Amino acid sequence: MHTGPEPHAVVHEPLVEARDLTRIWGKGAGAQIGVTGVDLRIDRGELVAIVGPSGSGKSTLGALIAGIDTPTSGSLVVAGTRIDRMKVDQLAAWRGANVGIVFQDFHLLPTLTAQENVELAIELGGSGAGRRLRRRAARTMLDRVGLGGHHRKLPAQMSGGEQQRVGIARALVTQPALLVADEPTGALDQANGHVVFELLTAVARNGTTVVFITHDLALAAAADRIVSMIDGQVASVTAQRSSGALATGITTAMATGVAP
Ligand SMILES: Nc1ncnc2c1ncn2[C@@H]1O[C@H](COP(=O)(O)OP(=O)(O)OP(=O)(O)O)[C@@H](O)[C@H]1O
Ligand SMILES: [Mg+2]
Repeated sequence: MHTGPEPHAVVHEPLVEARDLTRIWGKGAGAQIGVTGVDLRIDRGELVAIVGPSGSGKSTLGALIAGIDTPTSGSLVVAGTRIDRMKVDQLAAWRGANVGIVFQDFHLLPTLTAQENVELAIELGGSGAGRRLRRRAARTMLDRVGLGGHHRKLPAQMSGGEQQRVGIARALVTQPALLVADEPTGALDQANGHVVFELLTAVARNGTTVVFITHDLALAAAADRIVSMIDGQVASVTAQRSSGALATGITTAMATGVAP
């Protein structure tokens, strides 16, 4: 996949609009705050990094935006649909058609091959695509993430980086408007983490909105914007000069072992 330094195809049209978004578990003195009072807009095609200390609400925010969880209060519009009040089954159907999700520990089904894991996502996506179409789409997507020749392997027969690329193929095969990745490189070594990150950058360049949570500030620095969370709130949102140029800087820094 081409990952040159040309600018992202960011369209100035909101894909995510969160207003006063709050997620709290329990009540009173024992209440656990996930996020509180979050206002955030993410445009179509943007590559946005969410950073912050452990427990600051990154995963909570990611899960809300991805429609895995629902907020306690506040409004949330994603890909043109208001999802903050949706019922669980309604939300699941919406998610299948609009969101791809990538997890730190891959979440591949261990008894299915790479190909079957990706095909299953199409089936669950609810598009109604037939078997042949599913097989072809899965194969094409695995090729695009650089896994041509690995289709028949089980997760245990692949490296962490390869498994995560299957995870990304699975997330993208339904052509979602939004990809949410929670520490996608967290379980990978630097080289594999970089390959996975380059892939996410390429995905954003192709017009998919990508929100990724990371502890790696060097990777975050290559995003279009960085959302910093502290204590469940957005502490700052930083726009980058030119994500492409910074991404190239990081490639160089990684090659020479010097922090950017
Ligand atoms: N299901 C839950 N029930 C109660 N509290 C929760 C739940 N999920 C998260 N929390 C709390 O919400 C806060 C934010 O958690 P979250 O997982 O979003 O943090 P994070 O920034 O992703 O941290 P990390 O970097 O460690 O992954 C934490 O204090 C956590 O204990
Ligand atoms: Mg987390």
